[in-house]
Amino acid sequence: MNIKKIAIGCDHGGFAYKDAIIELLVNQDIEVFDFGTDSDASVDYPDFIHPVAENVENENTDLGIILCGSGNGAAMSANKHQGIRAALCWTEELAALARQHNNANIISIPARFVSKELALEMVKTFISTDFEGGRHERRVEKISCI
Ligand code: RB5
Repeated sequence: MNIKKIAIGCDHGGFAYKDAIIELLVNQDIEVFDFGTDSDASVDYPDFIHPVAENVENENTDLGIILCGSGNGAAMSANKHQGIRAALCWTEELAALARQHNNANIISIPARFVSKELALEMVKTFISTDFEGGRHERRVEKISCI
């Protein structure tokens, strides 16, 4: 998959990593759509995650990256969208498997539980790994409730 556009969003718990991730993506000639938040002031994560999910679901972007403290609130919000498969990842292997087996279109990063270096490595892996299809295709097609 040739990734050209990525949406990103986070709450205050993920803000510290957002700029470094954007820099990584821009250096790979990827167009980034930044839905905030833009400071470490306390906010409600759904306000910043739903716009990312909508953007990916509407195919305005190829993939999404979301961050909050635990990664769970962000993933739960994104996964309310039927077209979204957001994967909570805390190792590079999980980031690869999320693409290979689940065709995840959003990675959710638990910023308070992984280093910035690991977050960047997971992003690199996520955007450069393809869905394997085959037996996984049938399973992925059964995820949506509609
Ligand atoms: C914010 O303090 C924190 O609750 C949030 O970033 C996230 O971990 C929620 O799931």
